[in-house]
Amino acid sequence: MSESPTLITAQHFDYIAARTTREQPLLIELKAAAREAGIPAIWINPAQASLMQILLRLVGARRVVEVGTLAGYSALAMAEALPPDGRLDTIEFLPEHADFAETWIEKAGETHRVTVHRGAGVSVLPGLASGSYDAAFLDADKASYPQYLEESLRLVRPGGLVMVDNAFAFGQLFDEQPTDGEANAVKAFNEVMAAETRLATVIVPVGDGLWVGVKVSA
Ligand SMILES: C[S@@+](CC[C@H](N)C(=O)[O-])C[C@H]1O[C@@H](n2cnc3c(N)ncnc32)[C@H](O)[C@@H]1O
Repeated sequence: MSESPTLITAQHFDYIAARTTREQPLLIELKAAAREAGIPAIWINPAQASLMQILLRLVGARRVVEVGTLAGYSALAMAEALPPDGRLDTIEFLPEHADFAETWIEKAGETHRVTVHRGAGVSVLPGLASGSYDAAFLDADKASYPQYLEESLRLVRPGGLVMVDNAFAFGQLFDEQPTDGEANAVKAFNEVMAAETRLATVIVPVGDGLWVGVKVSA
């Protein structure tokens, strides 16, 4: 063991992906259909989905809230890790994404467990009951992440999980002048997370960087 980490290359990520992911055939079909429908391929990758499923199982998650449904890939992947009476609420702003996701949630036979809430995260989250979730996953408009974080801390029970995507700012974390319009919002949010004492946190280098936090105080 050493305090210096092993530098991870693209080859390592391919190696990990080939050995650790169990992607449902339906989710592979969903991605092909989403591409065909012109939905941007910005869903989480299978290794990230595996990690999130493991974390959800470890905290014994039964109720999960997500902001940013897109095609429903992450919602259905997370639902797979919940017990039969588990529930997942996912929030989506764009009607065409919400429509597509609902179609695939139905194809997956998950309409009784997965609900798409239409609207902006900042409007929908305040209507959800405090302390009633075991986990939150934030993966939508980055400028709203500080508000989503506050809401998640209200919604998630003590010991629950808060996961936030894109800590690496679409690969532009260290760019002086990032071209992605949301990169600076991610950088600002990363400082908010770094200072957050109600969560025990780490950034896991999977996908575009996943913040993983456990709620340690109210
Ligand atoms: C990166 S994608 C989500 C990917 C999805 N979590 C997955 O991995 O399968 C972000 C989604 O957030 C949605 N979105 C953007 N702004 C939003 C907002 N203010 N409220 C809710 N959803 C929003 C976008 O329309 C898009 O579908």
